[in-house]
Amino acid sequence: MSSHQQTEFEQQIPVIIGGSHPVPLLDGSMAVGIYFDNAASTKPFKVVSDFIKDIEPYYSNIHRGTGYDSIYCTHMYEEARKIILDFVGGDPEEQIVIPVRNTTEGLNLLAMTMELDPNKDVVITSMLEHHSNDLPWRDKAIVEYIPADVEGTLDLEHLEKRLAHHKGAVKVVSCTGASNVIGTVTPIHEIAALAHKYDARIVVDAAQLLPHRAVDMKPKTDPGHLDYLVFSAHKMNSPYGEGAVIGDFSHFQEAAPYLQGGGTVYSVGLDHVIWADPPDKQEAGTPNIFGMLAQARALQVMREFGMENIVKHEMELTRRFLTGLKEIPRIGVFGIADPDKLDNRLGAVTFTVAGMHHAHVAAILSYEGGICVRNGCFCAHPLIKSLLNITKEQEEEFEAAIKVGDRTGVPGAVRASFGLHNRAWEVDHLLHMLRIIADERWQGNYIQDRMTGEFLPEGFNFSFGNLPSF
Ligand SMILES: Cc1ncc(COP(=O)(O)O)c(C=O)c1O
Repeated sequence: MSSHQQTEFEQQIPVIIGGSHPVPLLDGSMAVGIYFDNAASTKPFKVVSDFIKDIEPYYSNIHRGTGYDSIYCTHMYEEARKIILDFVGGDPEEQIVIPVRNTTEGLNLLAMTMELDPNKDVVITSMLEHHSNDLPWRDKAIVEYIPADVEGTLDLEHLEKRLAHHKGAVKVVSCTGASNVIGTVTPIHEIAALAHKYDARIVVDAAQLLPHRAVDMKPKTDPGHLDYLVFSAHKMNSPYGEGAVIGDFSHFQEAAPYLQGGGTVYSVGLDHVIWADPPDKQEAGTPNIFGMLAQARALQVMREFGMENIVKHEMELTRRFLTGLKEIPRIGVFGIADPDKLDNRLGAVTFTVAGMHHAHVAAILSYEGGICVRNGCFCAHPLIKSLLNITKEQEEEFEAAIKVGDRTGVPGAVRASFGLHNRAWEVDHLLHMLRIIADERWQGNYIQDRMTGEFLPEGFNFSFGNLPSF
């Protein structure tokens, strides 16, 4: 069997659009593009894209339209809500789905709708967080961070000590379900049980977790149940601008609307408003109807394929990559690097090449290998700074440079993140390219742009000539 032939298992993987089209290389040739930026966004499931195309003729605004199309779209929108809630084991008697644009909006919605006193109340989050689960809380409460070790294991003893110390002032523990930088899966139910023991609620940022592991919010009778879950569908092969927040109906009922406007009310007078019940109260304006339908369809596709099969496939790619990296000099992997210890690790693998700028490595992979990775700090600056042992002085130095338009010294790393459409030969090609980089055998002369910090090959620009244009 040639390395590009599909195994029987791979043939069962749902078809994903756009995982392997030709991309230009620096030497003028074309290569099959390899997309390893799935932790940022995933390409669409064909089933989802077809589903939306089939519904397009019936597009109509929902809820108060009286025509056939509107009533159909309203029906589908409400069905989508049920599918999403069911996917995460939510309780339809108590919990509801609030559609949002993405995880960032969902976490902002929660931070804005929680009743918090910024001078007294405490929100505990962790050192593993994406900025979207850190910054929204900062001016709403006193924020503390659970420490993590180099493998991303959170210090739960520390968490319990802080919960006890604050004697009921911790209102929320908001934690990621998995690190977008080092891929560590966190023990969300254990964290939830601790939070509940001290009367705090738990918010789980499931942006990375939900695409890669089965998640069960669990019944309220279980101390480890999850109060709120937030995620983005563009990380689950449904890149149509949608995500969701799941939480108690009563929370969204008691809270002021996150945004105000059309659709959120039962009646408005010039001097009063009668707010609608949730979810309408928290869904101002025309929603992203197709985004909502697409995300529910994507979850169905994932369920049909089986979360255990998603785990199996991604774990095999991760094991192959980590095993291969061990043989390449100068590579340093962050987080769990042992290929035989992957139960609590997703396939987001972040690494550095000693002595090389992260943007330089990423540029060579793209221009000479046709490989899309991500580099930088992955919207998790405190974590990256701690992993790279950046001192306060170093931080001050590069931050001073940023202020005068020089981003050349911003620290960072390179991240390859695997998705369902990836195959073993692609991992092998990435390893091959990293060997070339470690041996300094790349071809181009790369010049760093002062403003952006990016490296660009001298005398070469991507041309988009054959791609659709306006
Ligand atoms: C853990 C985590 N939380 C939040 C986000 C923000 O997601 P979005 O950009 O969809 O709002 C991301 C994005 O990468 C993430 O990885």
